[in-house]
Amino acid sequence: MPEIVPVLSGDHLSSPASFHDPLHAAWGDAEWWRSSVIYQVYPRSFRDSNGDGTGDLPGVLAELDHLAELSVDAVWLSPFYPSPHRDGGYDVADYCDVDPMFGTLADFDALVAGADRLGIRIIVDLVPNHCSSEHALFQAALAAPEGSPERSMFIFSDGRGAGGDEPPNNWQSHFGGPAWTRVTAPDGSPGQWYLHLFDSSQPDFNWDNPAVREEFERVLRFWLDRGVSGFRVDVAHALIKAKGLPDWGGRADGGSTEGFPGSDAPMFGQEEVHAIYRRWRGILDEYDGDRILCAEASIDPLPRLTDWVRPDEMHQAFNFAYLHHPWDAHSLRHVISTSLTAFDAVDAPTTWVLSNHDVVRHASRFGLPEGAPRGGDGIGRFDAQPDTAIGLARARAASLAMFALPGGIYLYQGEELGLPDHTAMPDDARKDPTFGRTEGERLGRDGCRVPLPWLADTPTFGFAANHSGAPHETPTPWLPQPEGWSGYARDRQTEDPSSTLSLYRTALQLRRDLRLGAGSLSWSREYETTDAVAFLNGEVLVVLNMGEFAIPLPPGAIIVSSTPEEMEAGETRMLPPNACVWLIHSTDSAFVATPE
Ligand code: GLC
Repeated sequence: MPEIVPVLSGDHLSSPASFHDPLHAAWGDAEWWRSSVIYQVYPRSFRDSNGDGTGDLPGVLAELDHLAELSVDAVWLSPFYPSPHRDGGYDVADYCDVDPMFGTLADFDALVAGADRLGIRIIVDLVPNHCSSEHALFQAALAAPEGSPERSMFIFSDGRGAGGDEPPNNWQSHFGGPAWTRVTAPDGSPGQWYLHLFDSSQPDFNWDNPAVREEFERVLRFWLDRGVSGFRVDVAHALIKAKGLPDWGGRADGGSTEGFPGSDAPMFGQEEVHAIYRRWRGILDEYDGDRILCAEASIDPLPRLTDWVRPDEMHQAFNFAYLHHPWDAHSLRHVISTSLTAFDAVDAPTTWVLSNHDVVRHASRFGLPEGAPRGGDGIGRFDAQPDTAIGLARARAASLAMFALPGGIYLYQGEELGLPDHTAMPDDARKDPTFGRTEGERLGRDGCRVPLPWLADTPTFGFAANHSGAPHETPTPWLPQPEGWSGYARDRQTEDPSSTLSLYRTALQLRRDLRLGAGSLSWSREYETTDAVAFLNGEVLVVLNMGEFAIPLPPGAIIVSSTPEEMEAGETRMLPPNACVWLIHSTDSAFVATPE
């Protein structure tokens, strides 16, 4: 990687009239989480150190150097707790332990210590809306009579209609089918119903009950005492339900045409939920080390979402409006502007994310034909297939543009390899409950959760290999890997300067060195077109071409580019379609690039 020496004097900038007034001002010295890069590890698919076909915590520890190379500030671990894994571990049977499939608490402690040595923080996933039906509290509730304290930890209710045969209301599960399941009394007679916004194996807690609040404060302290730097809070908008659990007239899953969820959805976004996070913020503030809460809250529009990150609540919230932007310059500009304006209004950082374990990876999403659905429901063998080359070019360009945005970045494991989804997974291999609960109508999210490729020429692409790279004997990954993934394997990309991995390493290092995360954003008047997004952060001018044709490249030294295509031919400099560059916006280049 060439060494880039920035000179941030600003003397060389072209006339300020070329840019709109800054939409967002630089922060200067601010808390780490305002400009962080956080890498999501989905432990089951990251790295299998013992050859059982499942990733594990020692596997994460063994590969931490690779994450340090990406200049990440923190790793967010998706759930690794004991779980029957009906919903990929988001069905937690014990909040204060490690599933033997992933290792032990001692492995967790070793991971925190190993990460700390590399300056990487560990953030864990907290799933407070629901637990697994195998959790001791739910088992106790099932065994206890109606109206008991055990039952009041969850949301039990009598059914409607003759004999209580109908669910208490019309709410639907996110994964399809009713959001209620009826229990059977010990004598075999049908009993009450319990609420589960997700799978029937994920009963919702009753957050109106102070005992539930106490239980989770205990869980928070358990992990804070073990040295975690914070929590990603699962479905953080759902904990409190409207009094009386009224029927819902909007879309069955809580959505409506005005956004997701509708402002009047009774299962989301209730005002009382904020008191819970204020209390949690107080608990985190008792600890040293600037620890954080990040809300996973699918709330539209953005100015409503920012209620979750007011000064005394959470620190960050996932920006799903940004994640869902289509490949279109106008939409992208709009969502960036709206995001920065909304989050600035509450003095919180905006976050940026393009992939996670719930959505089709952006290298596949951006390669889908015009008009194909782009939701989180996976791509199957009989669906329109993404154009892999276009998808990858656009994913690289979109990521590079994202890395120059001020605020916090979330990365999802494997995106640094340019991984696409598995779009031809056999149905009998699927594990996501969405598939079963909708009888295959919705495919679910397995395509983005496939075990990572590490070594091109090794069985399981090195996912299940011992630390020296030797394969275990008969490893069968828990989800099948697509054929032909060797080109994406990390070892193939490591030394290739044009690989996606090299692009991520270079750009994320520059983002850190140039302090772009704490920087500013001004839209360019001069270089913006119908198809091009152009903005300035410090002295870095970013141009992203989302159109079909090459566009003239502004003057200035190119410091990093998403495309291996040649852009300079004699006097003419052109930016190809589906590509992004960072330039030093200066007539008299103040940057000196020295090859290694
Ligand atoms: C969140 C998780 C998702 C899980 C759901 C229920 O949206 O990201 O994976 O299925 O919550 O816990």
